[in-house]
Amino acid sequence: MTQGIQNKVVVITGGSSGLGEASARLLSAQGASIVLGARRKDRIEALAAELTGKGGKAIALTTDVTGREQVQKLVDAAVHSYGRIDVIINNAGLMPQSLLEHLKVDEWDQMIDVNIKGVLYGIAAALPYMQKQKAGHIINVSSVAGHKVGPGSSVYAATKHAVRALSEGLRQEVKPYNIRTTIISPGAVATELPNTITDAAVGARIKTFYADMAIPADSFARCVAFAMSQPEDVDINEILFRPTRQEL
Ligand SMILES: NC(=O)c1ccc[n+]([C@@H]2O[C@H](COP(=O)([O-])OP(=O)(O)OC[C@H]3O[C@@H](n4cnc5c(N)ncnc54)[C@H](OP(=O)(O)O)[C@@H]3O)[C@@H](O)[C@H]2O)c1
Repeated sequence: MTQGIQNKVVVITGGSSGLGEASARLLSAQGASIVLGARRKDRIEALAAELTGKGGKAIALTTDVTGREQVQKLVDAAVHSYGRIDVIINNAGLMPQSLLEHLKVDEWDQMIDVNIKGVLYGIAAALPYMQKQKAGHIINVSSVAGHKVGPGSSVYAATKHAVRALSEGLRQEVKPYNIRTTIISPGAVATELPNTITDAAVGARIKTFYADMAIPADSFARCVAFAMSQPEDVDINEILFRPTRQEL
């Protein structure tokens, strides 16, 4: 499956754990050059060192996606180091779910800033390069929560619906530039994501749900690899996947 992956330059936000980390490992093993961005410097630097130690190409840049200029620097670093940007995976996100009546307004703001504005900043940074190249692939991470809403998930689900809406608009707008767009909407995947929940009751429920349901993070990485490895004229616009045992 290295076709369409080998020698591509791939920027991954949220590359320090979970889905981003798993994608970095899989794509690096298939010959992509990886550019990791996240706030935990030690984690992304250790991962970049591991990938280069195995013969791959990888760099890491401490990035908080709530700062537009930091995301721009991440993408600029990819172009500076490797000459182009083929793929950006706008993956950084958090899920501090809670009932609206608990008024965890700071967490609502955080989810909007990271899950929506972070994705938009990734698009803003990568799009001008991809327009000039007349090639590129923007992969935005939504969720089953981008399709379904339940009690406690209102704001998280709103951010993930927003990712799908803006990705669909983007898909239509970038036709003249030969740019591909993919939304990936995972179900329960075993990562550090449930640790972002501060509401004790919701946290306990979600952690039990993940313990029962969640599948390994390379399930997501294989979806990324599938979308990237299609021939240039095939645009995989959306992938929704769940653990086989997950009902809702
Ligand atoms: N796991 C699932 O079941 C699941 C299901 C559907 C969708 N998703 C989505 O998948 C994406 C990745 O999550 P995950 O499951 O891999 O969880 P995770 O292990 O907690 O990873 C989240 C990543 O986002 C990064 N991040 C958070 N805030 C950031 C910020 N302000 N700036 C830069 N990076 C930031 C974290 O890095 P630092 O803390 O080092 O900054 C980390 O690398 C998220 O968008 C999530 O909503 C996950």
